[in-house]
This record gives sequence, structure tokens and C-alpha cells, in this order.
Amino acid sequence: MIAIACDHTALHLKGEIISLLKAKGLEYEDMGTYSEERAEYPEYAEKLALSVVSGAHEKGILICGTGIGMSIAAGKVNGTRVCVCSDCYSAKLSRQHNDSNILCLGARVVGSELAKMIVDIWLDAKFEGGRHAERIAKFAEIEKRQK
Ligand code: RB5
Repeated sequence: MIAIACDHTALHLKGEIISLLKAKGLEYEDMGTYSEERAEYPEYAEKLALSVVSGAHEKGILICGTGIGMSIAAGKVNGTRVCVCSDCYSAKLSRQHNDSNILCLGARVVGSELAKMIVDIWLDAKFEGGRHAERIAKFAEIEKRQK
């Protein structure tokens, strides 16, 4: 199941991405925000990131104005592999090489058609493993050294 969340800048784009998830026949959970009232993006990023690293959701999509605030906040949760993408190539490689588990988008950066293309590619691309898996393992080592 895919988790999705946004702040107040990105309600429209979240709706567009949800339409894509439905069209792809994917189950999803919309973790908010649900209105245009100002929403604090770190709270949504933490909630979604914790759900992804717990295994409750396979992957997550976070949307704010730039995608940057969401990515910084979600990246504070151990076990996340967060990418901010505004192009299709990065979205594909973030899965194939980095096994990204959270995709962040900037609703003020990308138009809805490009955003949907990025999400589509990101969801379909598979992690290639091999030498990339060895590098991914080093992420956990970095996290352990912070404790
Ligand atoms: C909200 O104004 C804006 O700061 C937020 O959506 C996001 O772009 C933060 O990185």
C-alpha cells in the first residue's frame, strides 16, 4: 500500500496523484492534510515516514511547495531513503540504484502532468540490487554512528 501526504500548498497535486494511483489499481492511504488551512509539513513527513519504515506502507509520496522541506523532515527518520524529484530520470534511478522508499514532489515546481509521469515511473522502477545493495547497507551504518 502507498502512503501519500501533503501540506496546504499541494492539495490539488495530491488529488491528481491519487487519481493516478487509482488508475494504476494501487491501494493507498491519504494521510492528510485535507484542507487549505496552513499545515506544518514536518508533522506529515514524520507520520508518513514512520509508517513506511514500520512496513505499514510499502512506499510513500510527500508533496509540499518545493518538496524540500518534506524531504529534509522525512529523512530524519531512520530507514527512510528519500528523494526529491522534478525529472523522470532521477525518479527512475532513485529506485534502481538507491531503493528510494519516499518520493517528494514540489507542487510549486512541477506541473501536474510531469508530476504524474514522475510518480508513474518511480512506482514501476525496480531496485537493481547487487553493488547498489552494498551501498544501501552503508546508510544503516551511518545511522548507527549517529546514536
Ligand atoms: C510552505 O509555504 C512551504 O514552505 C512548504 O510547502 C515547503 O515548500 C517547504 O519546504
